[in-house]
Amino acid sequence: MSKIISLCKRRGFIFPSSEIYGGFGSGYDFGSLGVEMKNNIKKAWWDEMTKKQENIVGLDAAILMSPKVWQASGHLTAGFADELVECKSCHKRFKADEVKGKICPECGGELTKPRKFNLMMKTLVGPVEEEAATTYLRAETCQGIYVNFENILNSMRLKIPFGVAQIGKSFRNEITPGDFIYRTREFEQMEMQWFCHPKQAKKYFDFWKKERIKWYQNLGIKKENLRIREVAATERAHYAKQQIDIEYKFPFGWKEIEGIHNRGDWDLSNHSKYSGKDLRCFNEETKEKYFPYIIETSAGADRSFLAFFCDAYQEIPGGRTKTTKPTKEVEVLLKLDKKIAPIKVTVLPLVRNKFELVKKAKEVYQLLKPHFVCQYDELGSIGRRYRRQDEIGTIFCLTVDFESLKQDDLTIRNRDTMQQERVKIKDLIEVLKEKLED
Ligand code: GAP
Repeated sequence: MSKIISLCKRRGFIFPSSEIYGGFGSGYDFGSLGVEMKNNIKKAWWDEMTKKQENIVGLDAAILMSPKVWQASGHLTAGFADELVECKSCHKRFKADEVKGKICPECGGELTKPRKFNLMMKTLVGPVEEEAATTYLRAETCQGIYVNFENILNSMRLKIPFGVAQIGKSFRNEITPGDFIYRTREFEQMEMQWFCHPKQAKKYFDFWKKERIKWYQNLGIKKENLRIREVAATERAHYAKQQIDIEYKFPFGWKEIEGIHNRGDWDLSNHSKYSGKDLRCFNEETKEKYFPYIIETSAGADRSFLAFFCDAYQEIPGGRTKTTKPTKEVEVLLKLDKKIAPIKVTVLPLVRNKFELVKKAKEVYQLLKPHFVCQYDELGSIGRRYRRQDEIGTIFCLTVDFESLKQDDLTIRNRDTMQQERVKIKDLIEVLKEKLED
């Protein structure tokens, strides 16, 4: 992990938040390459849900909602709380199930008995500090979907079964944030809520389980690094009738990246009760009124990012090119899927002290910039520059060489095979588009 964390910082993927002030609460900022990559992940998820799948519409709800939403959802009560113990000497807090015995793992002091600690982040809305102004930053994006259930159903003329997809920030006052961006207090979720008749809940739960595993695999995550864990009743979220976790084999162990939940009628029946609005649907055939069941797929954009990054990271001792001279150098290759990689194309003049080569390379860069996420790099030897691009997962390196000046062409180097082919500059956009497509 330390190598991945340092690569992320050095190459502009992820920086510690408020670093010049010593960091803040294990928060992180996504740098220029990080934001491209995270956007690509979110776009791949959004396209999968709203384009590839049937009958799913989107939503972007507010982060701040009425505090009544959180009373109804059960998040203000014990259901959304972790048990924690506190050290009587250094006052550090730990999750009760993560420490063994009664001794502080940090200083050896005595630990208190476990007590419940709610994870909701409180905030004040408006200029007056009074109880009525208290609300919470949302702890899961899906509540915005449930409270809009009727609006969406009517405005989009939908019929059960249908789904609503949303991507956005969520906040939890985690007691033990850690493992880099794996567990943070501010994070992004990609959630889809599938509303169906209770009798079809099991069928759709199984359907979505398969679809979600396929999504990670289609974007390059190795089969052997993914697994499904059935979550026992005692461990499930307070709203879940059935729950599985999709886990990824991180360098720090198998950990959840996405949860799939059968939430039953927990949310719609509670919001009906607390709001006084009847959120039941009418079944034309049986003439019954019923609360649809909700099958939820809830993925973390940050955790997916980390899983894609870890899976793509490779170290090649001695380097990638076969040479007669043995070298001690370890080369890094970030073998990200072409949809996820932040930079698709980098343009390089073979050498930088030849005016005509630099001029032509810059012209090619200007030509490609509106079409692809693109970089220009002229610093260092060509070999070193290829390695720099491999390290950030750039799909194609385009080299303008002396031949290019005569033939009006250049070489395209494939990141994974390192093979090069010559392509005419006039055909470049079409050729690259074709190569970068599915
Ligand atoms: N709406 C259901 C829900 O929120 P969850 O299992 O609590 O379920 C779903 O969270 C996903 O959100 C997790 O699988 C994870 O990817 C992400 N997530 C949850 N807490 C997180 C945290 N503290 N830091 C980063 N990601 C988190």
